[in-house]
Amino acid sequence: MRTGLFITGTDTGVGKTVVTAGLVLALKERGFNVGFMKPVASGCPVLDGEVVSPDVRFLREVTGIHDDMDLVCPYRLKQPAAPSIASRLEDTHIQLSYIVDQYFQLSLLHEIVIVEGIGGLMVPLNNNELVSDLVLQLGLELVIVSRPTLGTINHTLLTCHTAKMLGIPMAGIIINGFGKERIGLPERTNPDEIEHFSNTPVLGILPWMRDLNMELGKAPSLAAEFRERVNIQPLLPTDDEV
Ligand SMILES: Nc1ncnc2c1ncn2[C@@H]1O[C@H](COP(=O)(O)OP(=O)(O)OP(=O)(O)O)[C@@H](O)[C@H]1O
Ligand SMILES: [Mg+2]
Repeated sequence: MRTGLFITGTDTGVGKTVVTAGLVLALKERGFNVGFMKPVASGCPVLDGEVVSPDVRFLREVTGIHDDMDLVCPYRLKQPAAPSIASRLEDTHIQLSYIVDQYFQLSLLHEIVIVEGIGGLMVPLNNNELVSDLVLQLGLELVIVSRPTLGTINHTLLTCHTAKMLGIPMAGIIINGFGKERIGLPERTNPDEIEHFSNTPVLGILPWMRDLNMELGKAPSLAAEFRERVNIQPLLPTDDEV
């Protein structure tokens, strides 16, 4: 039974938040009760005395879903560094079991919960656990967000290889930001090459949207672009429990 998905990336800044927002909107559009989570956020500014995750602020603004902040983003860290380092500097210990508890609470409120990861799979969350350990503890399938440009075959295959080695199932790959840079031979040929070598479907290619502004919480063309360009059929919640 699928009740959630974990959105990881080949790197930080590849578009996990944009894809998470697009997927939440697409699932909502199909009538599902969707929630989202960003379990750990670092580099969070302090606004009016509160530590705020810009990712969560954007996701709330665009999707209109306002679950309790402690469920959605239990660890909000100020330092702009890997969570293991930021939490050490802020005297916080990131406990995976606590994140799993919060995820469970959220999943009682929603049919499906989309979890945005932190950086990529090999990002440390504490002294001895990585994002991949969190994915395993949550028991979720991955959606991998990758760049369209030269170098992405290597990064995407490394991510897929790691997932396979660790026994993490992959639901698919979404290439994000097509057209931000000049579209050349790599951009046109990378998707097929990635699919061939990873044996994982590329579910869609999301364009660079010039009207998207994270700071202002604006993404007017995201829902339509996602609907048109991403095959969400393999990502729908299932209730095939026997
Ligand atoms: N398809 C897109 N169209 C327009 N802007 C985009 C698109 N994808 C990403 N961006 C912009 O690129 C930046 C990085 O994207 P995003 O925040 O989604 O990456 P991320 O993988 O979630 O990063 P992080 O690791 O910090 O969570 C953001 O400013 C976002 O607005
Ligand atoms: Mg993000």
